Amino acid sequence: MSKTIYEPHPSISKKAYVRSMNQYKEFYKKSIDNPDEFWGEISKQFYWETPADPNKFFSYNFDTKKGPINIKWMEGASTNISYNLLDKNIKNGMGDKIAFYWEGNDPEDYSRLTYKKLLEEVCKFANVLKSKGVQKGDRVAIYMPMILEIVVAMLACTRIGAVHSIVFAGFSSDSLAERMVDCKCKVLLTADSVFRGDKLLRLKEICDEAMQRSKKLGHEVAACIVVRHLRRLNCSINSNNFENSPASKPIPMTDDRDFWWDDEMEDASSSCYPVWVGAEDPLFMLYTSGSTGKPKGVLHTTGGYLLYAATTFKYVFDYHPGDIYWCTADVGWITGHSYVVYGPLANGATSVIFEGTPFYPKNDRFWSIVAKYKVNQFYTAPTAIRSLMKFGDEPVKKHDLTTLRVLGTVGEPINPEAWLWYYKQIGGDRCSIVDTFWQTETGGHVLTPLPGATPMKPGSATFPFFGVLPELLDENGKVIEGEGEGYLVFRRPWPGMMRTLFGNHERFEQTYFSKFDGFYCTGDGARRDEDGYLWVTGRVDDMLNVSGHLMSTSEVESVLSEHSSVSEAAVVPRPHPVKGECLYCFITPNQGMTFNDKLVAELKLRVRERIGPFATPDIVQHAPGLPKTRSGKIMRRVLRKIAVNDRNIGDTSTLADESIIELLFKNRPESVATA
Ligand code: WTA
Repeated sequence: MSKTIYEPHPSISKKAYVRSMNQYKEFYKKSIDNPDEFWGEISKQFYWETPADPNKFFSYNFDTKKGPINIKWMEGASTNISYNLLDKNIKNGMGDKIAFYWEGNDPEDYSRLTYKKLLEEVCKFANVLKSKGVQKGDRVAIYMPMILEIVVAMLACTRIGAVHSIVFAGFSSDSLAERMVDCKCKVLLTADSVFRGDKLLRLKEICDEAMQRSKKLGHEVAACIVVRHLRRLNCSINSNNFENSPASKPIPMTDDRDFWWDDEMEDASSSCYPVWVGAEDPLFMLYTSGSTGKPKGVLHTTGGYLLYAATTFKYVFDYHPGDIYWCTADVGWITGHSYVVYGPLANGATSVIFEGTPFYPKNDRFWSIVAKYKVNQFYTAPTAIRSLMKFGDEPVKKHDLTTLRVLGTVGEPINPEAWLWYYKQIGGDRCSIVDTFWQTETGGHVLTPLPGATPMKPGSATFPFFGVLPELLDENGKVIEGEGEGYLVFRRPWPGMMRTLFGNHERFEQTYFSKFDGFYCTGDGARRDEDGYLWVTGRVDDMLNVSGHLMSTSEVESVLSEHSSVSEAAVVPRPHPVKGECLYCFITPNQGMTFNDKLVAELKLRVRERIGPFATPDIVQHAPGLPKTRSGKIMRRVLRKIAVNDRNIGDTSTLADESIIELLFKNRPESVATA
């Protein structure tokens, strides 16, 4: 049997902030026994215009029976995040330090930005936002690719106390519109187009559709500001005569609404005094899928998020001054917020930000970038690792990866096979792997190894970060001690956790706090092994996780059932070797409608267009009927079994019509007939 525990390499422990499990336990104990003091000490690293009251550092209620749920850290203190990330670091002599190396989709395109230059751009753009009427508390929607302007845009919002609401630029125009209407954004920020691999994405066109739809739904933006991105690139599309390439198609601009970023920046002043905001004032909102299908606007506030993003970044990646750090996540997801932008900048770090894909121009792109910038910490998703494993070790061996010290994963459970490949082939049996479990809602890592301290078990997110108190509960809410499996919940807030759902505190309480009184419920299940290690087993609600993108089954079902030929649809996750999970859809056509390839193609396209390409179903199956209880509830448990051709379906006595099961097994499409 292969060994199951991997000790951190002594060369890593030796220079780490936390060097042993004993030291971890000591820090952890302090963070739990004395949170005010623990986080109070950390807060001193930052600038507070009004300091926090040390006697009232935090307060909370996690029990709906005792009143409304609330979480407050450093209430009454005031600060400004952009000031802490930029001005303060520059004052400490980091002005000429590189904040970001930008690596374009095409290897010929790259640039860099120092802390000083970043501050200048942020101030200028903050003034542009002000000129469009954006004020403290206003929402700014951002639909941008991985270019430096997305960081400038975010920090410009924080400079003036505006709240950014980023929508991942892989979402459809409908999804963007829905989010714009919900947050009532004053302006929308985007770019003309972007290349991902050799695919051209015309972002402004998608924004035009979204703005049109948003208008129909009763919400109009005051301005849309567009980065002229494509034309400045060196890559072949430009040198090979830009005018004749599809990328040159003119971008329609609506007078008095649409503005070019560079035009606006030209005359903007490069000084902008920061607006001091309360520690509990909103910093940003970010939508995540909800099990009802309607996205939830997770709201994070300023002070606590700053402390938590900064502290997790420092300890979990063991970032030391001079290190080069690279997180491959898109800024449009929470990982990009906390660990491309806020965490690294709060530590004065130098990071790589990458626009492209792991496969372009070749399958060794990630490793060539690691070698090019001499990356020390690399953070990516299990799905990316699995998709790169397929190409074997050759593309890896071509590059010098010896600068790497810490390898991170996030987004879904990592299977031991992928973990071991990452450890051996990428990490050279020397790097620590940090399998970080967290959520949009948690703001930062909550379960994670520490690189110099935690003996690793492939597939386990191991132990809680400082200040985090996890529990496993059984169905009745009873705490499971020792070994066991149950609902993963948290007993107490840490500074970086969400505060509410934008405009819907009731849904916040209902979603996260109503299942078990006194606990924040993650919606994930977990197991504790004989050594106390935690293993996250996946979602326990109607959510699925495709390549690290969380979505709800009902969100996809409602898109499918809108098709005029569809009477009913049910969607379940099915394990997938690369994506982790994929969508398996059961479709009951309307009376008189036939189920054929054309319908399947239409349904796939519809989901793609309505939600985004990452949500495209893998399998669409004909279901003359669905397995339902007598009260009419679809038994998804049974459908999950059918999706993998597993006849062990367990108790079916509550089914209204058992014969449907056999029919569904028989109807499985040829291509997936065997699991
Ligand atoms: C899953 C991403 C196992 C989990 C930061 C969680 C994980 C959801 C891990 C949140 C991990 C994330 N091991 N599962 N290391 N990390 N998850 O909001 O189901 O996009 O609830 O945040 O991803 O996804 P979200």
